[in-house]
Amino acid sequence: MKPVLIPSPSGRVALVPSVLSADFACLKASLAPVKKLADWVQVDVMDGLFVPNLSFGPGIVPYVAKASGLPVDAHLMVSRPAMFIDAFAAAGAGLITVHAESAGAGACIRKIKSLGLKAGLALRPKTPVARLVPFLKLLDLVLVMTVEPGFGGQAFMPEMTGKISAARKMIGACGGRAWLQADGGINAATARVAAAAGADSLVIGSALFSSGDPAAFLRGLKKI
Ligand code: DX5
Repeated sequence: MKPVLIPSPSGRVALVPSVLSADFACLKASLAPVKKLADWVQVDVMDGLFVPNLSFGPGIVPYVAKASGLPVDAHLMVSRPAMFIDAFAAAGAGLITVHAESAGAGACIRKIKSLGLKAGLALRPKTPVARLVPFLKLLDLVLVMTVEPGFGGQAFMPEMTGKISAARKMIGACGGRAWLQADGGINAATARVAAAAGADSLVIGSALFSSGDPAAFLRGLKKI
């Protein structure tokens, strides 16, 4: 499937539903309310090794793209991301994010860019922002995990706000092209905290899909 790239940073906060918490029994109905309100959607890929959970592979990307009508961001929480870059590119992911802690992250970033896709680098909570330095000029997105990766529905880690601000400064110091994404425990209150710290892309899973009215939830976030 031809990839649809995620947009470039535009100075406002991008809202990114995470399908991990969507209703897979009726994905189309689950994602329909976000079609016109979200900026892109995130597929949380887990291999049971890098994180103690297993989720989905590239096969769902075309369905998520079709159900949402939005670009798809593949967040690879996997030990050996190089195994999956081609498959997610072929499936239509418009951005692929690998973890700094996984094998061959630098080579993966270069590979993703060589395929004409946008590339992201994610940091687990314990990983210092200094790990971004070698890649910053290449990156289209930096992902600061605000929970320990592996599960939706966890509480936002407020101690990550300093890291978000530090990452924002680093992105600004090298030309400011990359999105700064916060992922984990984002709700109406923590969205304000993350955005105030410098995040301009917010990944929202359980708070969105358990809200009873995802469209109203996103409209509320847009007021931030
Ligand atoms: C963690 C997942 C979650 C998810 C967002 O590995 O990546 O962060 O995307 O889930 P919520 O919004 O439920 O924390």
